[in-house]
Amino acid sequence: MNREIFRPNKEFSKNARIKNMCEYHELQDWATTDYEGFWGSYAKEKIDWIKPFDNVLDESNFPFVKWFIGGKLNVSAQCIDRHLGSRKNKAAIIFEGDRGDKQIITYLELSYNVNRFANLLKNEFDVKKGDRVVIYMPMIPEAAYAMLACARIGAIHSIVFGGFSAEALKDRIIDADAKVVITADGAFRKGIPYMLKPVVDEALAGETPVRKVLVVERNFEDITWVAGRDYSYNEIIKHQSVKCEPEVMDAEDPLFLLYTSGSTGKPKGVQHNQAGYILWAQMTMEWVFDVKENDTYWCTADVGWITGHTYIVYGPLAMGATTVMFEGVPTYPDAGRPWKMVEEYKINQFYTAPTAIRVLHKSGEDEPTKYDLSSLKVLGTVGEPIDPPAWKWYYEAVGGSRCPIVDTYWQTETGGHIISPLPGATPIKPACATFALPGIIAEILDENGVRAEVGEKGLMCVTRPWPSMIRGIWGDEERFVKSYFSDIKKDGKSVYFTGDGAVYDEDGYITITGRTDDVINVSGHRMGTAEVEAAIKKHPNVAEVAVVGKPHEIKGEGIFAYVVLKSDNGIADELEEMRAINDVIKKEIGNIAICDDILFTLGLPKTRSGKIMRRILRSIAKGEEITQDISTLEDPSIVAIIASAVQI
Ligand code: PRX
Repeated sequence: MNREIFRPNKEFSKNARIKNMCEYHELQDWATTDYEGFWGSYAKEKIDWIKPFDNVLDESNFPFVKWFIGGKLNVSAQCIDRHLGSRKNKAAIIFEGDRGDKQIITYLELSYNVNRFANLLKNEFDVKKGDRVVIYMPMIPEAAYAMLACARIGAIHSIVFGGFSAEALKDRIIDADAKVVITADGAFRKGIPYMLKPVVDEALAGETPVRKVLVVERNFEDITWVAGRDYSYNEIIKHQSVKCEPEVMDAEDPLFLLYTSGSTGKPKGVQHNQAGYILWAQMTMEWVFDVKENDTYWCTADVGWITGHTYIVYGPLAMGATTVMFEGVPTYPDAGRPWKMVEEYKINQFYTAPTAIRVLHKSGEDEPTKYDLSSLKVLGTVGEPIDPPAWKWYYEAVGGSRCPIVDTYWQTETGGHIISPLPGATPIKPACATFALPGIIAEILDENGVRAEVGEKGLMCVTRPWPSMIRGIWGDEERFVKSYFSDIKKDGKSVYFTGDGAVYDEDGYITITGRTDDVINVSGHRMGTAEVEAAIKKHPNVAEVAVVGKPHEIKGEGIFAYVVLKSDNGIADELEEMRAINDVIKKEIGNIAICDDILFTLGLPKTRSGKIMRRILRSIAKGEEITQDISTLEDPSIVAIIASAVQI
């Protein structure tokens, strides 16, 4: 596994927060030998406590751990109020709309907007500490105001990505028992208005806990207003005061829920709490992107995913940085759009997903040469393994062979990065997440909890709880324990298992090899096979279905469905049937879960006890030879039938 090594640029390292591997090891040694001292010291230094914490960590009820016990704070004050001295007139958010409209929001303006928003929720909608608020918004600054306004009054936000369907939105609203939805009429994509409010209307048809809907008017298209339920943000925000006292929150009060897919069942509401989450969001911003006072930082994610939470809103604002928010898509009006923005705003750190890099590479290989990208200092990637050709293009064409690429590995559940290069310290190997960050005690283990040998594929685990760790699955303690802490024990003690495979190389570098469970990673977004299967089963003519991932040139993985139909009189029109199945998926989940391939088959490979052998189906989808033992299947002949159908 010998790979080329890219050493940090000396000039960059000189001014970096962590300057070399010695400093990295010192920090990691400190954390290993004095875990609570390490975290306690950073928590004291970084957080503006309303009341200091008494103890650092309580593990007595593991995995239900508590950090910074007794501490009181407010996350919106951490992100805004404490910057109102020296950074009052600094740009907090630079917003660029799909059609090129721009807004610069200073920290003072952000404070006014968030305070007004908080007062609106509190006074007009009666939102109280602990209430759940669902946010279903496009990428506009009001989405960030909404998050911070919830944080200010102690409400728990649950953002639902704007690409999810009415059914998916409804499920999440009901699971969280949300009383308010914040949305927009719609927004713009590729120059054209699209709509969100009608999806909310559909989700709220029938019985739901939602009493009020706040609508930000963004594209001013016609929408339906339900009297007594729907209110225009643009109207009522004007009457709110710019002063709202931040609610005093306990370090372990919930901050937000974010639904994500697991290998079984419905999406789970991952819960993050106040202090530990914001501490690590801020520390990783500082360490991994090494953002400096006058830098401009841009993360292209959507606030509907964890990357948008931690690295567009909470992390950058907690450290007082300037964060760019972009409504559009990277290829509109052409594949030079991001590079044009880098030139215009003099972006210093650029953070995106491998899927976006592959799209930009494919559709605009030479576009970066047309712009001045000399402001760039650090490039980042997240969400899925990056392939060496995409890495190389990103490094050379975008970063001018000058900027370190931080391949950040983490998950919704980890709250922030856990394994990543440090741009001024880590000698980088392409497409490799490298080492655990200081304070994260991570290890690749085998099923028995023994450290994996060099080159041996193992399971990526974190062996000590860390501050930004998931605190629970909303309403389901048992699932929380079972999903993350029941598979692997090290020295007799349960450890956090990420669900990913990983491997050490001879230098101890960690490379993530992908999910080991039934989770598919489509364009860096997690999809549970069970979820997609449940959607497909809603089609009246579907008897059985099995869904697997299949490598996809752009998306990393695409969705491949094997479908057994009920009617045995053949398929009248295969294309029509496929379309109908994808229509059901669109309705139940959204466009993001549409299948790239659907194969109609007479049966599925099952064990005698009826378990579908997805491993075999994965191999068939990839066009691999079947090496698994199929003699124990209920009907071994089905494997050859399916395999020959796929080859056609
Ligand atoms: O499989 C890993 C992959 O994305 C999963 C987490 O997805 P999600 O919770 O949606 O969060 C995405 C953004 C953090 C992981 O279990 N993943 C994430 N980052 C990387 C990655 N795979 C390889 N390399 C990465 N850098």
